[in-house]
Amino acid sequence: MSQNLINLPSDCQIIGRGLFCSCYLHPEDNSICIKLPTTHKKARKRQKADEAYYRKLHQNKADLTYISDYLGSCQTTLGSGQLYQYIKDSNGQTSKTLNHYLSNYSKTTEELCTHLAKLGRYLLENHILVSDLHGNNIVFQHLNKNSKKLMIVDGIGDRVIFTALNFFNSIKEGKIIRRWNRFIKRLQDDHPSASLPKEKLYLGGEPFIDTKTTKIAR
Ligand SMILES: Nc1ncnc2c1ncn2[C@@H]1O[C@H](COP(=O)(O)OP(=O)(O)O)[C@@H](O)[C@H]1O
Ligand SMILES: [Mg+2]
Repeated sequence: MSQNLINLPSDCQIIGRGLFCSCYLHPEDNSICIKLPTTHKKARKRQKADEAYYRKLHQNKADLTYISDYLGSCQTTLGSGQLYQYIKDSNGQTSKTLNHYLSNYSKTTEELCTHLAKLGRYLLENHILVSDLHGNNIVFQHLNKNSKKLMIVDGIGDRVIFTALNFFNSIKEGKIIRRWNRFIKRLQDDHPSASLPKEKLYLGGEPFIDTKTTKIAR
């Protein structure tokens, strides 16, 4: 926990807003952003669950190359919050979301697909669970012309009550594959003009399983 009270003035730069948190640029360190929970009744619970999952990742010295790291909790003039690695492009601007790129620049789709495939493989190889995989929780960071990567900024962890089965890697892998393939299917449905190739993007070499008709662990 950061000792000092961080002063967040009313004109403090806001990076993004979601249902569960508002994200501000740290007023004294532009490599850090501060997430403050909204008044949503599940916001605090999610914050705690996120902290617990990051604790586990840190304990296991997990590879966080494609995840915005959690840096601790803090107190601000607007209440208690969480400190995260701020994902920005080489021009200093906040990296834009995957949804932004899929909706606005269909020409970059092929390049994006390569990065998406890389992200999926990374999650599987490192056994990292993401419970809320969607295009606004992933940003496409442009470090320079030849160096770009997709970064997950929200939604990691396993937001289920019974997590004991995650002890088994084979069960975890199955979950990661199903969640990832569902995510890709949703992206395909939401952005039909982006023509995302399922053979390149689905994990596990299996076709998408429709969970509405098939009973599988979620
Ligand atoms: N670490 C980060 N770096 C850059 N942008 C971020 C970061 N975290 C969040 N954002 C932006 O802020 C938005 C809202 O934050 P998010 O954590 O997803 O809120 P919520 O939990 O309410 O969905 C994201 O969609 C993203 O655009
Ligand atoms: Mg989000």
